[in-house]
Amino acid sequence: MDMTGARKRLDGLWRRGCEFLGTEVAIMGGAMSWISERHLVSAISNAGGFGVIACGSMEPDRLAAEIAATQERTAKPFGVNLITMHPQLDRLIDVCGELQVGHIVLAGGLPPTNAIRRAKDTGAKVICFAPAPVAAKKLVRSGADALVIEGTEAGGHIGPVATGVLAQEILPEMAPRLPVFVAGGIGRGEAIVGYLEMGAVGVQLGTRFVCASECIAHPNFKKAFIRAAARDAVPTVQVDPAFPVIPVRALANEGSRRFVEFQHEVIRRFRAGEMEHKEAQLEIEHFWAGALRRAVIDGDVETGSVMAGQSVGMVNREQPCAEILSELVEQALCSLAGRLPAVPAAVS
Ligand SMILES: Cc1cc2nc3c(=O)[nH]c(=O)nc-3n(C[C@H](O)[C@H](O)[C@H](O)COP(=O)(O)O)c2cc1C
Repeated sequence: MDMTGARKRLDGLWRRGCEFLGTEVAIMGGAMSWISERHLVSAISNAGGFGVIACGSMEPDRLAAEIAATQERTAKPFGVNLITMHPQLDRLIDVCGELQVGHIVLAGGLPPTNAIRRAKDTGAKVICFAPAPVAAKKLVRSGADALVIEGTEAGGHIGPVATGVLAQEILPEMAPRLPVFVAGGIGRGEAIVGYLEMGAVGVQLGTRFVCASECIAHPNFKKAFIRAAARDAVPTVQVDPAFPVIPVRALANEGSRRFVEFQHEVIRRFRAGEMEHKEAQLEIEHFWAGALRRAVIDGDVETGSVMAGQSVGMVNREQPCAEILSELVEQALCSLAGRLPAVPAAVS
């Protein structure tokens, strides 16, 4: 296939994704707490992709201000990612409705049907994360307009199953029913083509956008990404099954080493009868409170949480969003055309 043929094929492969998102390319910039704010989100959307604001723990007023500021920076579509356990979820959904956000992504556990309904009632398209085939079916019944399947290679909160396995389990049955986007471990265009050919309509990348020039992450955070190899991005270690830990993939650092010691110490105090189980569990859960902000905003990459996916090994330098997206598209086209893409000078 020549490059014109490859372009036609790619357009065809992700047409449904582009139509669903209202974009030129069906590449979503996955919401990243503290990182996916007005600057990065508008830059991704202005470059033809789909930026998504990470609401995280923001209060409704703060979210409204972030949406309005993003709308000032781009006339292109973008989405808002809401965490379903946020205590003011309903109000946050209403804020999205008031500001006419076109796409709401419900993340952080299976969203309740009434939250999906409320989000749809604002007129927005609703995108949900499906961690397993059964959940995917339930989400379709609950009215989700599109799904994201995210494998364990991803940065941030993760499930146990690899992207390639989830894609094989979920795409054959779900892709004919609704748009499905694949996330986790995607760093190059060849991988995008692979998932599109399996039936996905698009992809979501997070890690690859952290070192975008438009991203406000602290220079230390970006440097840590540029230096890291895939194997440095590891899930949190849990030392005792009686004290579950939420799995998060992040770069191993002093903080992750201290977390292991901290768990041992808390569990020792529990065993010595110095504290109740519930209190010990809470102490363990609170260890990382504020740690992502500390790393992203303050630049404390030693004790903060440097959430990153395994694709961090493919992040080699700071680049504008437009360049990141055009590189991915070029790699996708070359892969379809059976050619090797040009290797950028700074990487070779
Ligand atoms: C630093 C960081 C923070 C993240 N925060 C969130 C979040 O707040 N909400 C969410 O749904 N996903 C979050 N994610 C996941 C991304 O949206 C995206 O799905 C993921 O990064 C895709 O996998 P990749 O990292 O392999 O590209 C985060 C990821 C990273 C790296």
